[in-house]
Amino acid sequence: MRIVVKQNTPPRLEAPEDFTRFSIALDERLQGTEALALAPVADFKSEEGTHAWVRPDAIRALSAMAGDPEWDAGFAAMCAFAREHGWIGPNGGIRAHIDYLPETCPVSADEFRRAMRKFASGVCIVASGKGADRRGMTVSAFSSVSAEPPMVLVCLNRTSSTHDAIISADAFSVNILGGSQEDVAMRFAGQGGLRGADRFTDDAWQDAEGGAPVLATSHQSLVCTPVSSHQAGTHTVLIGQVIATGDTQDSSALVNYDGVIKATTAQPSAIQ
Ligand SMILES: Cc1cc2nc3c(=O)[nH]c(=O)nc-3n(C[C@H](O)[C@H](O)[C@H](O)COP(=O)(O)O)c2cc1C
Repeated sequence: MRIVVKQNTPPRLEAPEDFTRFSIALDERLQGTEALALAPVADFKSEEGTHAWVRPDAIRALSAMAGDPEWDAGFAAMCAFAREHGWIGPNGGIRAHIDYLPETCPVSADEFRRAMRKFASGVCIVASGKGADRRGMTVSAFSSVSAEPPMVLVCLNRTSSTHDAIISADAFSVNILGGSQEDVAMRFAGQGGLRGADRFTDDAWQDAEGGAPVLATSHQSLVCTPVSSHQAGTHTVLIGQVIATGDTQDSSALVNYDGVIKATTAQPSAIQ
């Protein structure tokens, strides 16, 4: 979920059902007056930099889903998770990173998401590290960049707890999921609450060339070395050079379309 605070507009809560992320999006014209702008929802102290402490009551007041037992339980679990990690301030506020929204933003994040849901994409696990340092997350924002040399990109949200490990690794893998791997996709998207190396419960994860973990049962895997990274909005665009590809498994791929992930059967290819 994300609290959006714009000039001359009441704060609103985006994606209240998403308990895996939590941040504030603040109109950049309000930079320098954060304490006042955020006062209805959060406490801000300029010496604490780019984060503020959001009052849980303010979130409940903004959420159209408050009162729904499932949402209430999810929100309570999110608060408990924040407490465990020391992200609750002395006044009970939840720590939130502040992203500054560019001044002119004619399309809202909700409108943008609605439009992007109409783009069918695959589902991958981007992973790095060895043993207890293994980290991975589910990503749909994956694209081919160049064939000579072979390069790909992934877009990783900077608020993800997995982001820093992947961005700083010497190698990372992209594991394109097969049609029967929805459970893997959801586990690496944070469902079930597993974090860090605990997400790698599957024995099919192996250490590949360059030290990145590879899921042997994925539809297709690629191992990459990082070439460059660029900050864009809330995400980092990570470009990698492909140094190895695995064997293709399964005949179907997992596809993310219109807010649903499901298996698709590969058709004999018409495009070469
Ligand atoms: C189908 C699907 C696609 C996703 N695509 C992306 C993506 O492209 N980039 C991204 O940063 N997060 C994406 N996510 C969200 C992350 O997987 C999720 O926030 C993850 O839990 C972040 O890692 P963390 O739990 O370590 O913070 C996607 C989630 C799902 C279910």
